[in-house]
Amino acid sequence: MSSKTPYKGLCVCLGNICRSPTAEVVLRYFCDKHQLDIVIDSAGTSNYHPGKAPDERSQKHALKRGYDLSALHARQLKLQDFIEFDLILAMDHENLSNIQDLFAQAHVEYGVSQIRTKIALMSEYDQTYLKQAVPDPYYGGVDGFERVLDQCESSSLAWVNIFTQQFKQQIDVK
Ligand code: 4NP
Repeated sequence: MSSKTPYKGLCVCLGNICRSPTAEVVLRYFCDKHQLDIVIDSAGTSNYHPGKAPDERSQKHALKRGYDLSALHARQLKLQDFIEFDLILAMDHENLSNIQDLFAQAHVEYGVSQIRTKIALMSEYDQTYLKQAVPDPYYGGVDGFERVLDQCESSSLAWVNIFTQQFKQQIDVK
């Protein structure tokens, strides 16, 4: 973890209207619940839906579990995100590859010393869905939106465990 305060995480999918806004709100909920001082945001690798609110289906399914996505607006991942965020979480392997390409561009643009971003899958440490994609629900049915929520909750809990261990290590060495 970097010494920047607070620690900042960015959830990324393709459109930033289904998976990553869901991941943003769910991960923020679990971080807050565990009193972790972490800022969470989200973005899309595409610019398909700039400024748009999350998909109504995502909003509806999330709200049934108590997560309010209504205040969010889609935006595209940008080079500066690799300076501002400590951790970027990809929802699937294609997102991961596109993020890594932009990461390489950010190194050229800003130089290695400026960039401390780590990149991982949302499911990187989730023993239930280990390194699996969060499946894109956009062209599918209701089950897909429930699956996104199931995975975001499970993977967020795994990240909270990782963050808690890392923060504890930081405190231990002081
Ligand atoms: P997301 O889902 O990446 O989870 O936001 C999608 C949203 C929009 C499109 C594809 C996936 N689209 O093709 O417009």
